[in-house]
Amino acid sequence: MLFDKTVILAFVLALALAFAGCGGNGGNDQGGRGDDDSVGDDDTSGDDDVTDDDAADDDAVDDDSIDDDLIDDDAVDDDAVDDDTVDDDTVDDDTVDDDTVDDDTVDDDSIDDDTTPIDCNAVITRQPYLQSVTQTGITVMWGTDIPGDSTVEYGLTDALGQTVYLADQQIVHLVELTGLEPQTTYYYKATSCHDETTVASFRTAPLRDTPFNFTAFSDNHCHAEIFGPFVDMMIGFDPDFAISVGDTVDDGRDPTQYDPCFFTPAQELFRSAPVYVAFGNHEHFSLTYYGLFSFPGGNNAHFSFTYGNTFFLGLDADVPYIPGLPWYKWLVDQLSSPEAQNAEFRVMFFHQPPYTEGWPGYDGDWVVRLFILPLMKQYHVDVYFNGHTHDYERGWDGTIANYIIGGAGGDLDVWARDVAWDLFYASEYHFLHVSVDGATMTLDAIDQTGQVFDSYQIVH
Ligand SMILES: [Fe+2]
Repeated sequence: MLFDKTVILAFVLALALAFAGCGGNGGNDQGGRGDDDSVGDDDTSGDDDVTDDDAADDDAVDDDSIDDDLIDDDAVDDDAVDDDTVDDDTVDDDTVDDDTVDDDTVDDDSIDDDTTPIDCNAVITRQPYLQSVTQTGITVMWGTDIPGDSTVEYGLTDALGQTVYLADQQIVHLVELTGLEPQTTYYYKATSCHDETTVASFRTAPLRDTPFNFTAFSDNHCHAEIFGPFVDMMIGFDPDFAISVGDTVDDGRDPTQYDPCFFTPAQELFRSAPVYVAFGNHEHFSLTYYGLFSFPGGNNAHFSFTYGNTFFLGLDADVPYIPGLPWYKWLVDQLSSPEAQNAEFRVMFFHQPPYTEGWPGYDGDWVVRLFILPLMKQYHVDVYFNGHTHDYERGWDGTIANYIIGGAGGDLDVWARDVAWDLFYASEYHFLHVSVDGATMTLDAIDQTGQVFDSYQIVH
């Protein structure tokens, strides 16, 4: 019996010691659940200490996906250092702008570098006029009263849809549109600051064999009362472009003349038909005035371009095109180029004529007579347009047709002498409308009543 009690007592004692051991470990808490202390936290829930390593973060060092601290390293931003896509701080690096430094396309701050300006107040004072059209591009220019930015919206419908924006603030605005389709109508409008134009349209240059038409005039001077009604007639022909043979103002050194004499009377024409000007003596080489234009090649004193099947070349004949001088070489290079020689027609226009019947004290320009006229014959120019004399003259010397079309506004001259090859003379106001269709060029002189008073064809 004693043995039996000893064995039983030992078994009960051992069992009691085993239970006592389990209870002692539970009191130290080195990794269990239900943590509510403030030092040495390493559990996965219920965290309220200063060293955070769990998914419910409420301390000052953040290393989880719920951000409520001062150092941001997640996708929800509520602190002072921004490195995410939701911006609510003072340093902007996202696409939603609500700060004081602007680097995006939605602007509501005080530093502007996007397409919704708020910090300029220029007003458009010179409506858009087109320059230098090609099959794939065109230049849009306009003017403002004070410096402002430049936007052209354009597209294949009047809904527009594409935008070119230039942030540089200018008074003379120049925007080049590129990547256009040939022989295509585009719509556009211009904006500077908060001022925008109505929508107008233009056509890109046609393919080589497509018929086209243009208008040509000279010596409008400062007679908008004559020039303006002619512009209305020109628009009636829906010309592809316009040529001026100079004396667009009385004095190019006077910037107050540019708009009332030239741009304003013609604004409805120039907004849809690019204008090319061969400057005359009355522009006086004014750099201010030259700066209002952008002709092909970047030199507004002389330029060339091809439109359809025809090569055009304009000169400021106040420049001495004399052998040995660079301008003469330029002219030879242009006329002898494959572009010129492969064209169906070659047309030149420059202000001073080699000969004229219509000015008592002036019978023509000797530089033109001696040096330019022989080049035109040598390189088979078909026709050239002059002004300077305020009348209408048409001639043919056996190799080349010549025109004086100086009747767009300046006081008329009277007949003074006979030039053997001049075939038609009229001292009256007029402009010229020219259409080209394949190997036929038709030139119509139109008077103030809208009547064609002289019509001529060049047929190859
Ligand atoms: Fe003139």
